[in-house]
Amino acid sequence: MTITLPDTEQLEFTPEVAEATAGFYEKVRHLVPEFEWQLQAPLIYEINRLKKEQGAVILAHNYQVPQIFFGIADYTGDSLGLAREAMEVDSQTIVFCGVHFMAETAKILNPEKTVLIPDLEAGCSLSESITVEDVKLLKQSYPGVPVVTYVNTPAAIKAESDICCTSANARKVVESLGVDRVLFLPDEYLARNVQKETDVEVIAWKGRCIVHEQFTVEELRAYREQFPGLVILAHPECAPDVCDEADFVGSTTGMVSYVDRSDARRILLVTECSMSDNVQEAHPDKELVRPCTLCPHMKRITLEKTLSSLRNRQYEVDVPSDVRRRARRALERMLVIGRDD
Ligand code: 13P
Ligand code: SF4
Repeated sequence: MTITLPDTEQLEFTPEVAEATAGFYEKVRHLVPEFEWQLQAPLIYEINRLKKEQGAVILAHNYQVPQIFFGIADYTGDSLGLAREAMEVDSQTIVFCGVHFMAETAKILNPEKTVLIPDLEAGCSLSESITVEDVKLLKQSYPGVPVVTYVNTPAAIKAESDICCTSANARKVVESLGVDRVLFLPDEYLARNVQKETDVEVIAWKGRCIVHEQFTVEELRAYREQFPGLVILAHPECAPDVCDEADFVGSTTGMVSYVDRSDARRILLVTECSMSDNVQEAHPDKELVRPCTLCPHMKRITLEKTLSSLRNRQYEVDVPSDVRRRARRALERMLVIGRDD
């Protein structure tokens, strides 16, 4: 079988490709039918070959599809883990299979490296929920109150902030400041979930994640009824009442770690559903209940676009030096604080 790419070149599922990718197929065979694999394996083979040739590394978020997660990624993780990984890698080129704010964070922390994202339109509803003007007005309304900014924001917003946080360290970051109140931008639900765990007053903005805001308590209760013994793990971008209904709340990597150490047989991950596919493949002994809630931004990243990214060195992520310097300060203040999940 052959696949024709837009530049009319044909990639074939040769015996060499089949052999070189057999190990990856073992990991995704429950999800990918053989005929589909014959189209995807040549792409995976070519991406891995080019990656080696160029000395590039691929960082992939936990929400990437199994073919990317298992087939081409050198490092996988949550926003915090990938930001740290980006600083550790020796390679001069990082291809980021994730959304734009993640690639931008990698660039801010590694200005001397080339950071590529396969699709510049891979955004985030939280990143789009606030402007620099909004942050300036908030700072005027709350003079002297420090600004804690979720990493799911553009560099220009980070540059206006005192410190960043991720879903893995938000409470710790808030409490690290030693103040009575903070502005917490832009995720309203994450802010309210942090508020439940701290005496610091958390002043929220009104941003929402279009994926996590969809889950409801009623839905979770219906799953509990349908699947006895179900253990529910939720991402803190979900509504506070949804998080209250869950057995564990944490970042995407926090959830993966929970599954790794848990004896639970039936698990529901209240988050983006490619992650459930990846966790299911890693734990064939468990039953992952998988309501399909896709992040359209994460799904813009495909094998085809990742191959074009490597071939054409596109799309390079850059941040103006003044913004980069100020955003980096907020990120570095966060990076000395450990995980909280
Ligand atoms: P994590 O940092 O927990 O991976 O979350 C990132 C994200 O965008 C969740 O929607
Ligand atoms: Fe943004 Fe939500 Fe997609 Fe995460 S899942 S990248 S928060 S839109």
